[in-house]
Amino acid sequence: MSVVVVDLLRQLLSPPAEHRLDVRDRVVVITGAGTGIGRALAEKLYASGASVALIDIDQAAAAAVGRSMGERALVVRADVSDRIGMREAISRVRERFGRIDVVVANAGVVPEPATIRTMNPGDFDRVIGINVTGVFNTVHPALEDIVAAKGHVVVVSSAAAFAPGMAGSPYMVSKAAVEQFGRALRVELAAVGATAGVAYFGIVDTAMTHGTLDEDDLGADLGALLPWPLNLRITVRDAAESIADGIARRAARTIAPPQWEPYALFRGVINVVLDSRLARDPRVHDLIHRVEQRVIDVDHPVTPIPR
Ligand SMILES: NC(=O)c1ccc[n+]([C@@H]2O[C@H](COP(=O)([O-])OP(=O)(O)OC[C@H]3O[C@@H](n4cnc5c(N)ncnc54)[C@H](O)[C@@H]3O)[C@@H](O)[C@H]2O)c1
Repeated sequence: MSVVVVDLLRQLLSPPAEHRLDVRDRVVVITGAGTGIGRALAEKLYASGASVALIDIDQAAAAAVGRSMGERALVVRADVSDRIGMREAISRVRERFGRIDVVVANAGVVPEPATIRTMNPGDFDRVIGINVTGVFNTVHPALEDIVAAKGHVVVVSSAAAFAPGMAGSPYMVSKAAVEQFGRALRVELAAVGATAGVAYFGIVDTAMTHGTLDEDDLGADLGALLPWPLNLRITVRDAAESIADGIARRAARTIAPPQWEPYALFRGVINVVLDSRLARDPRVHDLIHRVEQRVIDVDHPVTPIPR
């Protein structure tokens, strides 16, 4: 059902053929391209004839991806939370390829599981610095190039932008911010002939997912609260395909798997009911107690909660 709805929306919202963006002979910048979704996207777009700039804080991972490609790949080590470093990274892409047509702000991290009460404040800043400020630092220095090329920007958000955020709020906050960033950019760039879109994913089978949901017992219990079909996992190839399709269509938004679309569309009503139910759910209370009791932060001690 939701797949049909998504296809219908896609057809209705697709631009005319002359507005489609073919990445062949175009220059695409991807952050977080050393592994996971970014890597799969880089490989896909390279195979489609794009020149790709692989930006990652992990030089070795990005270099390994670059080595599997040819002349049309450029590896740049940069931390997206470093504004000056990112300006230099974008300059290097410009110097090498002479233009920038597409930017995909994909690099992102997750916090240590914690409630807001027990959180290490530094972890909040780290996640916001990479996931939100990092998106600004990636996109801003490339915008004159994007406008000149009438190109496209993708910011990678998540279903976390609208799903409940307990025990991982810096991530949810960051992805909601990225969503707003992308929406504002979409309207602003339309005035100057370029486009932007927001990419949403449910659960993608990557190192990030393994670390948060599989290898962490509390993460696994939190993940178990997700009902079918929201607990479906997609591969990095599916995720890359979703972004690549969005670039080709200059889509305002992409969402994968499509089973998340009804929640995305009707979130206003659903979340009013959901938040109220979660706040009353003893299983959620138990999880919150377990998360809080696990956090030992000498800089920000909290009194353990009596059970
Ligand atoms: N995996 C999921 O289920 C999922 C779901 C929704 C959205 N997302 C989003 O998709 C994006 C990619 O996620 P992933 O699962 O492929 O993650 P991943 O952890 O597998 O890969 C992230 C990449 O980003 C790089 N990176 C991390 N911090 C960086 C920094 N400061 N500067 C530059 N590079 C940095 C890492 O080195 C790594 O190569 C993220 O923004 C994530 O929030 C992921």
